Amino acid sequence: MISVTVDEDIHEAAPHERLIDLFNRSGVRVPHVCYHPRLGPIQTCDTCLVEVGGKLVRACATQTSDGMVVSTRSSAAKSAQRAAFDRILGNHLLYCTVCDNNNGNCTVHNTTKLLAVEHQRIPFQPKPYAVDHTNPFYRYDPSQCILCGRCVEACQNVQVNETLSIRWEDPHPRVLWDGGAKIGESSCVSCGHCVTVCPCNALMETTMLGHAGFLTALPKSALEGMIDLVKGVEPEIGYRPILRVSEAEAAMRETRIRRTKTVCTYCGVGCSFDVWTKDRHILKVEPADGPANGISTCVKGKFAWDYVNSPDRLTAPLIRDGDGFRAATWDEALDLVARRLTEIKAASGPDSIGLIASSKCTNEESYLMQKLARAAIGTNNVDNCSRYCQAPATMGLFRTVGYGGDSGSIADIEQAALVVIIGSNTAESHPVLATRVKQAHKLRGQQLIVADRREHEMARRADVFLRPNPGTDLVWLSAISRHLLDNGLAHTEFLQRWVNGLEAYRKSLEPFTLEVASRVCGLSVETLKQVAHMIAAADRVCILWAMGVTQHVNGSDTSTAISNLLLLTGNYMRPGTGAYPLRGHNNVQGASDHGSMPNVLPGYQSVDDPEVRARFEAAWQVALPTTPGLDNHEMVDAIHQGKLKAMYLFGEEIEDVDANTNYVGGALEKLDFFVVQDIFLSETSRYADVVLPASPSLEKEGTFTSTERRIQRLYRVFEPLEGSRPDWQIIQEVANRLGARWHYEHPSEIMREIAALTPLFAGVSYERLEGYRSLQWPVAADGTDEPLLYTERFHFPDGKARLFPVSWTEPSLRPDTEFDLRLNNGRLLEHFHEGNLTYRSEGIRSRTPDTFVEISPELAGERGIQDGTWVQLTSRYGQVRVRALITDRVRGKDLYMPMNSTERPVNRLTGNQTDPATDTPAYKDAVVAMRVLPEIGESPLPRVNHRFGHPTPQRGVEVERKWQRPDYRLPE
Ligand code: SF4
Ligand code: SF4
Ligand code: SF4
Ligand code: FES
Repeated sequence: MISVTVDEDIHEAAPHERLIDLFNRSGVRVPHVCYHPRLGPIQTCDTCLVEVGGKLVRACATQTSDGMVVSTRSSAAKSAQRAAFDRILGNHLLYCTVCDNNNGNCTVHNTTKLLAVEHQRIPFQPKPYAVDHTNPFYRYDPSQCILCGRCVEACQNVQVNETLSIRWEDPHPRVLWDGGAKIGESSCVSCGHCVTVCPCNALMETTMLGHAGFLTALPKSALEGMIDLVKGVEPEIGYRPILRVSEAEAAMRETRIRRTKTVCTYCGVGCSFDVWTKDRHILKVEPADGPANGISTCVKGKFAWDYVNSPDRLTAPLIRDGDGFRAATWDEALDLVARRLTEIKAASGPDSIGLIASSKCTNEESYLMQKLARAAIGTNNVDNCSRYCQAPATMGLFRTVGYGGDSGSIADIEQAALVVIIGSNTAESHPVLATRVKQAHKLRGQQLIVADRREHEMARRADVFLRPNPGTDLVWLSAISRHLLDNGLAHTEFLQRWVNGLEAYRKSLEPFTLEVASRVCGLSVETLKQVAHMIAAADRVCILWAMGVTQHVNGSDTSTAISNLLLLTGNYMRPGTGAYPLRGHNNVQGASDHGSMPNVLPGYQSVDDPEVRARFEAAWQVALPTTPGLDNHEMVDAIHQGKLKAMYLFGEEIEDVDANTNYVGGALEKLDFFVVQDIFLSETSRYADVVLPASPSLEKEGTFTSTERRIQRLYRVFEPLEGSRPDWQIIQEVANRLGARWHYEHPSEIMREIAALTPLFAGVSYERLEGYRSLQWPVAADGTDEPLLYTERFHFPDGKARLFPVSWTEPSLRPDTEFDLRLNNGRLLEHFHEGNLTYRSEGIRSRTPDTFVEISPELAGERGIQDGTWVQLTSRYGQVRVRALITDRVRGKDLYMPMNSTERPVNRLTGNQTDPATDTPAYKDAVVAMRVLPEIGESPLPRVNHRFGHPTPQRGVEVERKWQRPDYRLPE
């Protein structure tokens, strides 16, 4: 530590700490408007000027040095600070009492108070531009914009969408979208970073406008009258009494605005934020430095919460009545569920019942579902949708390093020298995690290799983009591994110290020469060598992968090959290295971790281990089934075979998201008894005998576990909608009617039980997860967690990792004369998965109303297809009608369909082939025939969709250009 004198007081500081951080840490009150710790020094506002060595310097951009003497209160400093802030007020009209941003956290308001501004020295000048309301989620008011540039910095360098800029040379600079487009016609992806960091009301969420304040809903004319009144009296009475009134109004808001921390319910990144609400109205989502996301969100987490208050929410249990349903009381419905499950169990045994848990619901709910299956019904037939995506990645890691989770944190991915992304459209499927890669690549020289069939955003940004033939990733990964071994480029020391199985592995690589890989994968030998050498040369490598790898018949083996390559190159056990299978749903990691799997109890404890079973039997006071049950894929087969007769499923749209949905629907129809628990009447619930109305995440407490194994608490934002109940309560009701005696009154009690029975979570408790605190499993009894796994040993008895030999299984389907096109499928940024939640967001629907099929320009030319042409896709399993979108993201005879849709699920086209190790469907192995239909509709993507925008990349806000303006002078 060094010492720095600030206004005669001596402070300890870290060397090279920013002066502004030292001030904030030590309670030295210096104004700073453009500085935000997550954005760093932007240097546009000049309000933080202080004196060092007789010179005025910006405290945000000045680093401490030993013996430094700083004056924040000298007359030169104070006068400069005030002069800088006067310039800001020239750009901003203070009408706090009638402003929706007057919530105690407005930087401009608070700085006016800090500087005790009495009168406006530079008269406010509105800018000659209209307010822009063209984005459904936020609006920009140029006249209130103080040109701090925080939004530009956030868009350019945090989100790295590169939409925003300020043209400092303009006579009246303002924030520009795509250099001057309307927001709604720009490349803006509505991630909301800009709105989150704006220090005033220039950028605001539309849901705030007219709702946050007591007077802000007044008609415009009345508001303007009040603003004029205030302006009129300000010269006489000064700002002090005016601010006092606005502060009284802000304090009144506290009585009705609630801020509740929650965790996003969409993807597996695990963003957390405060939800601001007034009654059941969501005012806004405000990230407050979440451990995974900092200030970041994507459009879904920031804006797509309409579904919670959707009129489609179920508010009464439904019981089948002929072809339809009738409303029932909770008692009637639950009694019926218990009676039928009891009858079926008595007649056909416990294994004639299957249960499917939700990867959207909480850890505690997953735990209760598997406990219901095992302890109350007596079957291990319980699973969750990780079977559809992530089970192969987990298998690859179990085989090689021991734990089935990401080996480090998002922070490690940021620190890597080289990131390799395989089969993951990260910018759309894990948007906030992708921002960290985009940042590191743009600003810190991180290298990026992307392998994918589709040229998505990460592919466009990559230093090397590979387009291997479908299902051949294992081949090029193995060939690179062999090349490294053959050429002495493997990490010998690491292998000797930490890894078993080298010789068998070396032998397994024999077939994989670069030439073979080149032929099989369609990649040049030079490219393969380049990739191999980049991986060998990089000091820290992280590999990220997702469904483009796992949803093939060789998904587990390819995941294994990835981990093998990381071991071979010593890319485990250090920060900035490791394996990152990106988990899809918000709690798909947690649903598996907590035992909703047919072969393991919570914490991946095997059901056929007598010691494990004995521990659970003692706690639960029952005898447990001893052999693994059916996974969800096998359950569907078992229904067709007449072996599985009843199913209880919650929060899972199996009818849309399992492969070959015609086959799945056919099975569901055959069930003797089917219970679906959901917040909406889902497609799956159309087959149900009883539908139980559940509550979404905002209406309950619990925990989620994100892709980085991070366990986080969510708090109840709203009471459950009348008639609905949290899933954990419903499951408990069912269990008790089946004879269990559960008495959980709060999810924390369930977590206490989990921790007691599961070494992986021994130290997890709600107290340790209070607020924004989080834990990354494994968590020792004393609460020590492991953000980075394997720092001391791998998770095997001898502490060593295992190279696991694999061989290549060819894709199960190849184009032929009948089905001549390959159909790829996956996620889209703005819709989540099948879209049940996001299609209920009006704003999202307005930009992305439905699904489509992407067709390459070459194929479109050949077949006479244009944007909006209807085509019929037919596979061996079904057919769909869908509109075409012509794009060079796909090439040749590859098609791509987002998996979300209002009514045309891609899974009518996918088949029954699976990865044999995990039963994960090979969704990506689909071949289809395409018939061009005579109708031509509108383009499936309206022109307002961000994909038609034109970003304007630059290095940030580029304040130097402001300083070069002839009218700019450092304030004095
Ligand atoms: S992409 Fe749009 S919402 Fe996100 S920071 Fe940029 S301008 Fe703002
Ligand atoms: S819109 Fe951007 S530049 Fe304007 S005040 Fe807000 S953050 Fe600053
Ligand atoms: S969807 Fe994923 S990236 Fe987007 S806010 Fe939610 S957790 Fe974050
Ligand atoms: S806070 Fe330092 S220049 Fe704005």
